[in-house]
Amino acid sequence: MSEKRLTVPDVRQSKGQRKLVVITAYDASQSYIAESAGADMILVGDSLGMVVLGLEDTVSVTMDQMIHHTAAVSRSANRCLVIGDMPFLSYQVSAAEAVTNAGRFLKEGRAQAVKLEGGREVAANVRAIVDAGIPVMGHLGLTPQHVARLGGFKVQAKTALAAKDLLDDALALTEAGCFAVVLECVPSPVAEMVTKAVPIPTIGIGAGPHCDGQVLVYHDVLGLYDRFTPKFVKRYAEIGAQARQAIASYADEVRSGAFPDSAHSFNMSEAELEALRAAGLPEIKTS
Ligand code: KIV
Repeated sequence: MSEKRLTVPDVRQSKGQRKLVVITAYDASQSYIAESAGADMILVGDSLGMVVLGLEDTVSVTMDQMIHHTAAVSRSANRCLVIGDMPFLSYQVSAAEAVTNAGRFLKEGRAQAVKLEGGREVAANVRAIVDAGIPVMGHLGLTPQHVARLGGFKVQAKTALAAKDLLDDALALTEAGCFAVVLECVPSPVAEMVTKAVPIPTIGIGAGPHCDGQVLVYHDVLGLYDRFTPKFVKRYAEIGAQARQAIASYADEVRSGAFPDSAHSFNMSEAELEALRAAGLPEIKTS
């Protein structure tokens, strides 16, 4: 595996050549694990709100929270391309605000790109961000920041008309300069159609096997978040259950006195102990 960081042109050129592996991460240790496991790109998703900050959805995640976590992820990612997720209302209000906020992900978060949700309605602001020299990944289909309008976390583009709409959005994002686009929760044939129609890589999540790459949330892959598991999530481990078991064992051993034992404690030389005893201090046991 090359140690050189994956670049935006590398991502564009991978289309039709190889599948791209993307996973979210929110801190330096997760980023280290993702990179050393061979991921191509790390997305600091605004799923942060749900899996890390304990929020109901992604709507109230702030710019400062995203920058804080993006900077942590970037500190231990040397080879992966790091993408910061622009939070709700950080890129819709005006092109100037969109550029300023996107810029913070690169300047303060040390990411190499940003991601944002929406299609034709945000294309002009995508163009402004790209023109400022900041690579943008699009996000279509189920766009969680629009959960209020969508009426819940539901599969999108299920009708021919909606699928055509999604295709038009993907073409508009391509035209606006996006280097890749996430397709979330859309039927596999729709994702396949879009993947064939656009020259940029599609990154699927709940969009079937025909996308140019896949993205999953770190906590979902590892079984760390069990409040809700969407159908498209495949858990590759049950780290949450293991962690709970480990902490329960720790608690049992603290309560029974089995931890810490001598293997996990520090001792003193016999001479120093003798000196302590000679000082008339309370009886000291040696273990
Ligand atoms: O916020 C996030 O983690 C995302 C991915 C699920 C694509 O947007």
